[in-house]
Amino acid sequence: MEQQCILITGAGGYIGTSLVPALLLSGHRVIAVDTFWFGRELLAKHPNLTCIQQDSRQMPENLLRGVDSVIDLAALSNDPCGETFSDATWEINHLSRARTARLAKQAGVRRYLLASSCSVYGFNTGTLDETSPTKPLTTYASANLAAERDTISLNDNNFSVTALRLATLFGFSTRMRLDLVVNSMCYSAWRHGEITVNGGGTQVRPLLYVADAAQAFMRLLNPDIPETAGQIINIGRADQNLQINSVAETIAQFYRTAKNRPVSIRHDGPQDVRSYRVSFEKMNRLLRWEPATSFDESLPDIARFLIHSRREELLKCHTLDWYRANNLISTCSEAREPTPLHESNENFGSP
Ligand SMILES: NC(=O)c1ccc[n+]([C@@H]2O[C@H](COP(=O)([O-])OP(=O)(O)OC[C@H]3O[C@@H](n4cnc5c(N)ncnc54)[C@H](O)[C@@H]3O)[C@@H](O)[C@H]2O)c1
Repeated sequence: MEQQCILITGAGGYIGTSLVPALLLSGHRVIAVDTFWFGRELLAKHPNLTCIQQDSRQMPENLLRGVDSVIDLAALSNDPCGETFSDATWEINHLSRARTARLAKQAGVRRYLLASSCSVYGFNTGTLDETSPTKPLTTYASANLAAERDTISLNDNNFSVTALRLATLFGFSTRMRLDLVVNSMCYSAWRHGEITVNGGGTQVRPLLYVADAAQAFMRLLNPDIPETAGQIINIGRADQNLQINSVAETIAQFYRTAKNRPVSIRHDGPQDVRSYRVSFEKMNRLLRWEPATSFDESLPDIARFLIHSRREELLKCHTLDWYRANNLISTCSEAREPTPLHESNENFGSP
């Protein structure tokens, strides 16, 4: 694939810190735009990387000039954050991403990829594909759905927009998250010797390895697959639609055998009858691709991370606690309207 200049918002996050090195390794130039709430140092210096500390809600259009593709990851990235900071979630996850897409189109960017989520399906029965009805149940899911609508509507022959509905991610990344089901169960097993399963555990959820999510974005940058323009695509692996009980049992067993640690499983809360499987056939067909890694294969890396991390480093991995403890999240009136365009380059960091 030809070298591109790719601007990534939220590049310092869980997906971004896996995706940016992979793009650089493929020879692309990357402009990483982030508030860097988890630290600037998580992205290693590279001659083809420019890091810009910038809130996406106020991103000026000039940053987008000369950019070939935008990958829009900036978000408050889970349900608890969405409910705690609902106004900021609407601003960042919906309005700001719609605004970034509009500015990108104005600036002549060719391709825009939105990180959405399978959570837009809410909880449903049966196997869900992209034509299934959506039922967002939380602020986070509703904002994703609104962002899909307002970005996909900008798609035309000159501006290709694709929304990726990602399954729930797992695995090690440089900015590590311990608020995702697999990673969080590993943390509980390691730290407390106990995994708590809420809702009975028979409910099914789709899972996806974080480095495979990065690969999906990379495949979608390829101009040889034009049929993805204007599309919403579920991203995940069919055999990783898994029952929560079996995820917990596999993790407990891993700690018992590989780490010689006794781990029990505790059930809590009322039965959750809401359960869904997601179909990834459209992704298989259009991207001619399948994610490589199953969740059990990621466990040794997660365990290694937990053993080698200092306590203070682990605090950052609990996203909502980190935001709260450091008072990081506020609303921003400029998110409501595009800001005037500035010609200044004062926000450019050094490569
Ligand atoms: N991780 C998952 O399981 C998963 C699943 C489905 C969808 N997604 C979506 O993928 C995207 C990235 O998720 P992640 O797991 O990397 O989350 P993350 O919380 O690790 O990263 C988000 C990044 O965005 C930055 N950010 C937040 N608001 C910003 C703003 N206003 N301006 C600039 N930067 C800002 C943060 O500093 C952080 O580095 C999100 O849109 C998320 O909803 C993630």
